[in-house]
Amino acid sequence: MSNTQASERVALKARKVSFSWEETPLHWVPGDPFTTHTINVLHLLLPAGERWFVHVYKQVLPYIRDDRLREDVIGFIGQEAMHSQAHDEVLPHLRELGLDPTPYTAQVDWFFEKLLGDRTLPPGRARRWWLMERVAIIAAIEHYTAFLGNWVLNAGELDRRGADPTMLDLLRWHGAEEVEHRSVAFDLFMHVDGSYRRRVRTWATAFAAIVFLWQRGARFFMENDPTLIDGKASFKDLYVRGRRGTLPTTGDMIKSIPRYLSHSYHPSQEGSTEQAVAYLASSPAAIAALAAEKGAA
Ligand SMILES: [Fe+2]
Ligand SMILES: [Fe+2]
Repeated sequence: MSNTQASERVALKARKVSFSWEETPLHWVPGDPFTTHTINVLHLLLPAGERWFVHVYKQVLPYIRDDRLREDVIGFIGQEAMHSQAHDEVLPHLRELGLDPTPYTAQVDWFFEKLLGDRTLPPGRARRWWLMERVAIIAAIEHYTAFLGNWVLNAGELDRRGADPTMLDLLRWHGAEEVEHRSVAFDLFMHVDGSYRRRVRTWATAFAAIVFLWQRGARFFMENDPTLIDGKASFKDLYVRGRRGTLPTTGDMIKSIPRYLSHSYHPSQEGSTEQAVAYLASSPAAIAALAAEKGAA
């Protein structure tokens, strides 16, 4: 392990945050339903997705032969379980605002629970193969959660445009924890398998699934938004918001691909632990969680 990695290591703990959504408007990026709904897709994908991470990681724990990594994985599980729950809690609010996500979340649940769930495999090679495949898929997805986490921590344009502070805190608390634990999934994959062919193959699977689910989710929200007459979502909208700074740029998204596929890739090269930890020290939700924890102790 390099010095930078060693000095950047932080003990991972779940912060038991909670948010109240009553004040958050439907278009929480004012006047920009496309940006709002593109980011809202996170609330559709992450509850089932991160629950699935936890489910898979509990199965991989017996394969870990390094105490420090096991500790990191346990910390990671705690953080992802909390992320899943926090995003899930936004959905009733969207429903109250006239945007019922159930038809879409039912598909996402099927995707993670059935397609990527435990298959009826006999114990042995096939079962291990499928477990390793999923561990590698999670490492690829975590490349993107770290990318997005780093982006949102630096997305000052959302503040300048008056985005809802509660939603920004949810996104940045989550983003900061993604940056904080960004090496865990990759280190775990390298520890239990690490095959380069598997890394490339599962990256392709994860990337295709993310693009497919995300564009469908954005379209679903735009089409079902009760305030929009002819809501649409296109690649051009994404490109424009990237240039504006309210979403990641398409150039940055494309450039992140060869980084993950490079033989010298390590997630510690992406984003800044210092910035993540600094945000978590100032996040209203994280501060409230810490106070509640101290009060209960
Ligand atoms: Fe997460
Ligand atoms: Fe994560």
